[in-house]
Amino acid sequence: MTTPIQRLNRRALIKAGAATVAASVIPTRWAIAQTKPLKVGLMLPYSGTFAQLGENITHGVEMVLAEKGGKLGGREVQFVKLDDESKPELGPQNAERLVKRDGVDVLIGTVHSGVQMGIHKVVKESGTLTLVPNAGNAAVTRDLCAKNVFRTSFTNWQPAYAMGLALGKKGVKKASWITWDYAAGTESAEGFKQGLEAGGGQFVSLLTLKFPETNFQPLLAQIQGLGVDAIGAFFSGGGAVQFVKDYAAAGIKVPLCGSGFLTEGTLGGQGAAADGIETALHYGDGLDTPKNNAFRAAFKAKANREADVFAVQGYDAAQLLAAGLEAVKGNIEDEKTLHAAMEKAKIDSPRGAITMSPQHNVVQDIYLRKVTNGQNKIVSTIAAQLADPGTGCKI
Ligand code: PHB
Repeated sequence: MTTPIQRLNRRALIKAGAATVAASVIPTRWAIAQTKPLKVGLMLPYSGTFAQLGENITHGVEMVLAEKGGKLGGREVQFVKLDDESKPELGPQNAERLVKRDGVDVLIGTVHSGVQMGIHKVVKESGTLTLVPNAGNAAVTRDLCAKNVFRTSFTNWQPAYAMGLALGKKGVKKASWITWDYAAGTESAEGFKQGLEAGGGQFVSLLTLKFPETNFQPLLAQIQGLGVDAIGAFFSGGGAVQFVKDYAAAGIKVPLCGSGFLTEGTLGGQGAAADGIETALHYGDGLDTPKNNAFRAAFKAKANREADVFAVQGYDAAQLLAAGLEAVKGNIEDEKTLHAAMEKAKIDSPRGAITMSPQHNVVQDIYLRKVTNGQNKIVSTIAAQLADPGTGCKI
């Protein structure tokens, strides 16, 4: 087990004299460390409304490892999996368990923005290399950004901003947003508002319920009376399946749109209720590139279902990790070289080419999609290589 104290000692040792270390005939702790498997903590939801998201991210990570013959940067990998249950109150203690008790070298996690705050607090202090494969909370790559934390997914702002912009440009005058009352919901509402206003529309109101509740009826009952031309929404996983079905069953005439998670990995459960829904996301069906086609075939062979954006984000977290570890030949203690390699990596993602912003958030194209014949068919690119504003970040 590697304790934070040992980490410090190793850093101090490297600084104190690489030459002395190299000259030594006795195997150093540093040299021994390079032959040990790399411990990678997967802190993800494997139960609850986001369970399938956690599973697909895990498949994505494992696919990269398989492609690379079971090694990253020349080192074997040992996974330590932890079900975070998407419970923010357990976030800090679960992250501490992985970092301090299990001594992971790398943490990949998580899905839920509130849980991410707990992880962030812990890894900012320990310096553990962390890759965020989903959670979009702004703080992680804005005011609380950190040199050891990289995000391969999105900020809550990115797809919601693009959705608002697309609506405004289409001539929609007034719209409201409906969501769970936590960071992902409120931050996506803010992004939607900004995009809508930039496109010439007007944001009317924000309707919320507690995460992960699915008693949507009291909110749905208000929609017709809002006087809006469109409703935007952030829901995901099991909650999104339920929301889209309830919206259709309520017979509401106002068109529904949203951040793409609303219809991502959920279409089987939503059926005809999802037909025609437009959403914005950094992935979609029908991206006919060799990389995406190979990825989708491999995912289907492994998981026995269609790939989705969550699988892509997990795959890219592992691709970025591999790029960093290859640059340091597995020596994760060489943080300067490791971080620099990850910062300048150009990742060949199934979604298209992606890079890291100076704040360590992914820069990517955001597509408009429309549910057609049970698929999120890409209609157009709303925003090419969209970066989050990254406000307040100093790395
Ligand atoms: C989040 O909590 O940041 C979150 C969760 C599920 C999603 C997207 C964002 O699909």
